[in-house]
Amino acid sequence: MVSPSFPALRMRRGRSAPWIRAMLAEHRLHPTDLIWPLFICDGKGCEEQIPTLPGVSRWSVDRLADKAREARDLGIPCVALFPNTPAGLRSDNAGEALNADNLICRAIKAIKDAAPEIGVLTDVALDPYTAHGHDGLVDERGCVKNDETSAILVEQALVQAATGADIVAPSDMMDGRVGAIRAGLEREGYCDVAIMAYAAKYASAFYGPFRDAVGSRGLLKGDKRGYQMDPANGLEALREVALDLAEGADMVMVKPGLPYLDVVAAVKREFGVPTFAYQVSGEYAMIEAAASAGAGDRDALVLETLLAFKRAGATGVLSYHAPLAARLLSEG
Ligand code: PBG
Repeated sequence: MVSPSFPALRMRRGRSAPWIRAMLAEHRLHPTDLIWPLFICDGKGCEEQIPTLPGVSRWSVDRLADKAREARDLGIPCVALFPNTPAGLRSDNAGEALNADNLICRAIKAIKDAAPEIGVLTDVALDPYTAHGHDGLVDERGCVKNDETSAILVEQALVQAATGADIVAPSDMMDGRVGAIRAGLEREGYCDVAIMAYAAKYASAFYGPFRDAVGSRGLLKGDKRGYQMDPANGLEALREVALDLAEGADMVMVKPGLPYLDVVAAVKREFGVPTFAYQVSGEYAMIEAAASAGAGDRDALVLETLLAFKRAGATGVLSYHAPLAARLLSEG
């Protein structure tokens, strides 16, 4: 085939007016592409601002009904919940993670009461509950114990499922936990609860504001490189995804987002399964800092970065900018 060239082909013809740009757009962002992460704090009537995440707050459970209705009215299909566990309830064995009346469980109920039409995704990992800030139980050498942690994660996922979580999302990166959670859900009759595996989760410098939000930054001893992936590795992500799918993950996630778009694209191409990206807290903070410094227009930065995920092949994106983006999209 002879490929046409200039002047027979003028690419600018397709860019000459809004109608033709709209007609030729290969990808489109829609509110249903978004998952909105919400932070929860103890207390009543509380909104706590998070200085490293300007514009994002922790909400007490009684204020979540409003957030749930806001998500529904904006057309956002799902919210993701993260607790800031009171310091006195954190311990070495993360027992609070299994308390059926903990912040997360109360939050699930509040959201399901207020807006049963939207989905609730819960994080399965122990870091909001441990006194040392790691995602699992730690041995004498400070190493996170895999199989012992995995057994607790199964219990944590079951508590969340029993309370009404629609999707459980293991973010801990223990080996074998997806299979163990899937087996537990089957055994206990929660066969409709989906698993979104944080399959390719990197040991990233972009999680700082999140750790402030859930109160684990000051507690964390060492780093998470013994279980989260090395940012140097791309092929390893495909092995992680293959394993999680084989163990029963319904959908997979790549995290962080923008710096790992190559991984998002490779996962989608290789497996063709629902593939989500997490535009993490440090990415949100970067956009906010750029906008505040006058380096770019916030709304345009937000919509462009979210569209980039779609172009890379993402099925959807977890983003703290979800409500802003949904509002901008509905305004056209
Ligand atoms: C914890 C968890 C983290 C995030 C989601 N779940 C942080 C971490 O692994 O330390 C990060 C999300 C973000 O930065 O927005 N298991």
